Amino acid sequence: MRGIILVGGLGTRLLPMTRVTNKHLLPVWRYPMVYYPLYNLVEAGVRDIMVVTGGNNPGAFLELLHDGREFGLEHLYFTYQEEPRGIADALRRAEHFAGGERCIVMLGDNVIAGSIRPYVEAFAAQPAGARLLLKEVEDAHRFGVAEFDEAGRLQRIVEKPAQPRSKYAVTGVYMYDELVWEILPTLQLSERGQYEITDVNNEYLRRGMLEWDILEAAWSDAGTPESLLRATAMVREAGWEPVLQP
Ligand code: G1P
Repeated sequence: MRGIILVGGLGTRLLPMTRVTNKHLLPVWRYPMVYYPLYNLVEAGVRDIMVVTGGNNPGAFLELLHDGREFGLEHLYFTYQEEPRGIADALRRAEHFAGGERCIVMLGDNVIAGSIRPYVEAFAAQPAGARLLLKEVEDAHRFGVAEFDEAGRLQRIVEKPAQPRSKYAVTGVYMYDELVWEILPTLQLSERGQYEITDVNNEYLRRGMLEWDILEAAWSDAGTPESLLRATAMVREAGWEPVLQP
């Protein structure tokens, strides 16, 4: 199982904080933002991890994380996304690293104050397909939103709907089998000029290959001033430390 953390993008919703610094290096309570997804992967037992950089200061991730030793890793892999063309495009940059294998993808601005290990284990046990983590939120219009039928079956995922049909946001933790590497090159650019990860998830759903869990731990994105503040308060309150305990 490969781990992939996406830390590209220009972080425009956090300007001017992100004019110089990459969004994923900004502090969330006592740690740089990228520590949280990296620790989530390590804590879930993932050892081979690639950081897909881009945007401002891509080299700073190497300066910050070195070879991953602080996280108990033997090595850390880095690559670079030339232009900010969406999450699915960033994921394609990791194909040479993870192609032909299953992967856990985490958005670098998603902060989870708890373990994702049970979900990673459930994914490892499922024969094929993809797995998402959903979380009930009050501001679903800011996210990919899961829509269900009356029987509670997942029907489709809609990216940032003006009128969300459920309160369940799709979090930035995506688990994919080898099929993802075939789906990614088939995607079309969206209206906002991006390759959307929601299109990948809907393709798995169309094939009847998408599983999901409700994430139990507290979760927040951290890509806007409000959510950055909320993420900080959340991890502080939870006492969640994204570092190996001595
Ligand atoms: C992205 C995804 C969205 C997902 C969110 C989670 O949105 O497009 O589906 O719910 O991450 O943080 P972004 O915040 O990059 O616009």
